[in-house]
Amino acid sequence: MIDFKREIANILSEKIEELTVEEILEMMEIPPNSQMGDYAFPCFKLAKIFRKAPNMIAEQIVESIGENPLFEKVENAQAYVNFFIDKATFAKSVVEEVLEKKDAFGSSNLGEGKKVIVEFSSPNIAKPFHIGHIRSTVIGNAIYKLYDFLGYDTVTINHLGDYGTQFGKLIVAYKKWGNEKEVEENPIPTLLKLYIKFHEEAEKHPELEDEGRLWFKKLEDGDEEAKRLWQWFRDVSLKEFNRVYGMLNISFDSYAGESFYSDKMPRVLKMMEEKNMLKESKGADIVDLEEYGMPPALIRKSDGSTLYITRDIAAAIYRKEHYDFYKNIYVVASQQNLHFQQWFKVIELMGYDWAKDCIHVPFGLVSLEEGTMSTRKGRVVFLEDVLKKAVEKTKEIIKEKNTNLSNIDEVARQVGIGAVVFQELSNNRIKDYTFSWDRTLNFDGETGPYVQYTHARACSVLRKAEVTIDENIDYSLLSNEDEMDLVRVLQKFPNIIKEAARKYEPSIVTRYIVDVAQAFNRFYHHCPIIVEDKEMQKARLALVAAARQTIKNGLTILGVSSPERM
Ligand code: ARG
Repeated sequence: MIDFKREIANILSEKIEELTVEEILEMMEIPPNSQMGDYAFPCFKLAKIFRKAPNMIAEQIVESIGENPLFEKVENAQAYVNFFIDKATFAKSVVEEVLEKKDAFGSSNLGEGKKVIVEFSSPNIAKPFHIGHIRSTVIGNAIYKLYDFLGYDTVTINHLGDYGTQFGKLIVAYKKWGNEKEVEENPIPTLLKLYIKFHEEAEKHPELEDEGRLWFKKLEDGDEEAKRLWQWFRDVSLKEFNRVYGMLNISFDSYAGESFYSDKMPRVLKMMEEKNMLKESKGADIVDLEEYGMPPALIRKSDGSTLYITRDIAAAIYRKEHYDFYKNIYVVASQQNLHFQQWFKVIELMGYDWAKDCIHVPFGLVSLEEGTMSTRKGRVVFLEDVLKKAVEKTKEIIKEKNTNLSNIDEVARQVGIGAVVFQELSNNRIKDYTFSWDRTLNFDGETGPYVQYTHARACSVLRKAEVTIDENIDYSLLSNEDEMDLVRVLQKFPNIIKEAARKYEPSIVTRYIVDVAQAFNRFYHHCPIIVEDKEMQKARLALVAAARQTIKNGLTILGVSSPERM
């Protein structure tokens, strides 16, 4: 694809020797509307250098450029040099790039040789995978895909919450009140019930707490029975989680959870001791962070056991040593901001200069609109139930619209789940938001179903075509505003990907896909495609194919499927 902005900067730098190409690029602007050209170069700052009125400088630049096949025209408008890109050259450059690169359009090798770890999802075992977890899962997966698309060497990690005193308590509860068959049949709700019962009973019989601690100690010391039960709780939980990951089409390179670091803690504690970082406080070990305006980091409890934060520190050191990451990204709710700030500071104080390469990507809360879901026992909404309901509701909507779809179940799954994922990724991640069915499943709003429907519409046009798209396309036939607007949107895709990755913000891609779909639909409604004039038909079809491909590539990054019929 021709980088028109850079081409213009190159041309300008020949005329203005005092400025570098980079400086010119900095100064260039995109005019607020296309009647003022595609790019503009303001000449006000040149007045000093040339000791001339800006308007005159602009006039001279226009004259010196003269005729150039790249431009339809170049003109001076009140000291701005406005560049109008030749429409056919522009359309050809963009559409050919998309059609040549296909699924790779928008990708790059920017990240070659750089390892990026994306840690996301990380639910706690024996606890429900609830609607709140979807955010980390879906945002994290999109961030991973963005970096992957940019050529980084990516590793995805699910840092399962599978360690800590609560597992001692769970073992006690299971041994007292549990039943194997019930756990096998309905693992998470059963384990959750046992855990709740433990706390109710412990109010009346505080000695249960000691028993819980004892069993966790046993687990840490490698006691056979404790290990067997813990492993079993972990296995049945993971089986449940994997069902949800399967629905979302997500998998991880590593499931090294908190327990993975249990034997890596002593070394970390020793390093902290050697660096004299630990301070005693009521029998526990802390790192004082007062100087940095933060509460102390509790590293080791008075009974010698380690904590969530200690395991995060050990995990980061392990990851640096094992993967030698360029970036180590954590997609975790904003409630944990302080936790991450604290331990990032601790590793910095340990002397690790790569602390700056550890990045917490926080996100806001999701709540459900009243009446969205009736809950199973307890008040938590299970993610799996939300996804299933989305599929069911979608099936009803599709049935009303299109009755002769042979694979309706498959499409309902792709659209229903895609709708939830797309909705999740529609707002800036840091914003809290309320989930509502109407907003998620609306086929006409700025939703997943809307862009998927647009994709399917493009597929249908391509199926109906009477000509094949070949090398000989007369791009000068694409010249009206709707066609040009669509080309202009498509051109942005590679930069959209880079910006979204740099800001860890998948919603930039989500909103962009909506822009593509809207530009496509304006074009579709105003420009007949299957027309008599075969040359015209071919040119417009090429544009349809390019729009379809771009929507698909964007949706793939988000983890949303692009059905061809719906
Ligand atoms: N298991 C934790 C939770 O559900 C999230 C873990 C986040 N990752 C981390 N490295 N601390 O709240």
